[in-house]
Amino acid sequence: MRVVVLTGAGISAESGIRTFRGSDGLWEGHHIEDVASPDGFRRDPDTVYRFYNDRRRQLLQPEIQPNAAHLALARLEEKLGDDFLLVTQNIDDLHKRAGSLRLLPMHGELRRARCSACLGLPDWDGDFDEKTKCPACGKSGHLRPHVVWFGEMPLYMEDIYTALAQCEVFAAIGTSGNVYPAAGFVDVARRQAGARSFELNLEKSLVHNAFEEGRYGKATEIVPKWVDDIL
Ligand code: APR
Repeated sequence: MRVVVLTGAGISAESGIRTFRGSDGLWEGHHIEDVASPDGFRRDPDTVYRFYNDRRRQLLQPEIQPNAAHLALARLEEKLGDDFLLVTQNIDDLHKRAGSLRLLPMHGELRRARCSACLGLPDWDGDFDEKTKCPACGKSGHLRPHVVWFGEMPLYMEDIYTALAQCEVFAAIGTSGNVYPAAGFVDVARRQAGARSFELNLEKSLVHNAFEEGRYGKATEIVPKWVDDIL
């Protein structure tokens, strides 16, 4: 059974990481476009560097750990092996820490920097800013967070569409359906592969009508149960 799972911020909420679209419409006190767009970065790079440095420090706090939903997906992968693919919109590394291996972080990774001079993607656990030198090429002024911002192309799209076109089961977990192309993956999986489709979320997403089945509740409760059911 070939399975593709897409995850979003909701799967990490119970690990203590805030979702993007809270009730106040802000991401950790900022307008999303100010800290997640090339324009916002050009206008005020200091704020953007500081913002991601703060997010990275928070992610590395000892109390932030993978939860039962992350672990359940790693268990599903253990059973399915190469027939499983996990695509995440999250920039945290909680899936990796839970043991997921076949994992494509389509919106980038908080614990990496990107150098526009040498195109390197160095692992990064501390802070960095405009003045920081790239460890690979030694140039400063070229590092930015390895995060896909609005208006930029998500990563791994070829591999993702290939897997979607061949899957028998597609599930979207903890994502509000606001952001494309991820919000349209369910249509690709159903149209091209005839996949069975599941939405698992706290509440109905913007695209809930696109799914055959919806299960609503906290990720730590509904994801382990769903994994048991499909296995
Ligand atoms: N369990 C399950 N779902 C939850 C939980 C929980 N404990 N808590 C919140 N949710 C749901 C919310 O109801 C919401 O529908 O998770 C969803 C999170 O939605 P968003 O905050 O919009 O996050 P996401 O869909 O991942 O955002 C997509 O937007 O800003 C960009 O690039 C960023 O990757 C991000 C993308």
